[in-house]
Amino acid sequence: MTSSTSSLIPVLTIDGPSGAGKGAVSAGVARRLGWNALDSGAVYRAVAANALEKGVAAEDADRLVELCRKLPLSFEAGDSSIVVFLDGHPVDDRLRQEDVSVMSSKVASLPAVRAALLDLQRSFRCLPGLVADGRDMGTVVFPDAQIKVFLDASVEERARRRYKQLKEKGEDVKFLRLFRDLEARDRRDRERPVSPTVPAVDAVIVDSTDMTLDEVIEKVLSVVRQRV
Ligand code: C5P
Repeated sequence: MTSSTSSLIPVLTIDGPSGAGKGAVSAGVARRLGWNALDSGAVYRAVAANALEKGVAAEDADRLVELCRKLPLSFEAGDSSIVVFLDGHPVDDRLRQEDVSVMSSKVASLPAVRAALLDLQRSFRCLPGLVADGRDMGTVVFPDAQIKVFLDASVEERARRRYKQLKEKGEDVKFLRLFRDLEARDRRDRERPVSPTVPAVDAVIVDSTDMTLDEVIEKVLSVVRQRV
């Protein structure tokens, strides 16, 4: 498909910082609309997990770019999140571990890595539509998206949500450590020169701090209904 025809396929971009609920909201909205889903954070996490496994350093742009070229990734909108498959196998548990989280924001700050992943991310724009979640979906990857949302929440609330999630999985985590990691990751993501986590000028900003998941999904669906 050429870029001029693919730009007719509707895209809803949902950008925002870690823990704002993008994954759950994107999965819920994609399922309700029957659209495809792209979890772009998982793309960076897959590169990071692969790099950790192969002993590739976060600064080794050349070898990281090589890893980016061999990423057999696919996604499905599950009940409460977008499910990630690598080579057809679900890999969510590994991708969500803290060492991968930290490494992913480091590899994501390299311009060569970001450039190497552009075509892969755009290849998910298929009919009947795409819900793409990440940091730069509305600004860099799909600047022509028909609908753009920036989902935010306070850092305390985001750390609380992540803590609860990891505890429920039986992981031994410390709230303060999570809070500080999240703050550091936010800073790296917001202040990096390439594709910083900032709202697109035409994005609708939704603050989910005091909203339930269902309320956020409804709010995003109402934005979609106004635009498509
Ligand atoms: O959203 P998630 O926490 O899974 O993303 C993991 C990391 O990947 C983030 O910390 C961020 O640095 C990076 N990322 C990015 N651009 C995106 C999505 C994620 O830089 N579009």
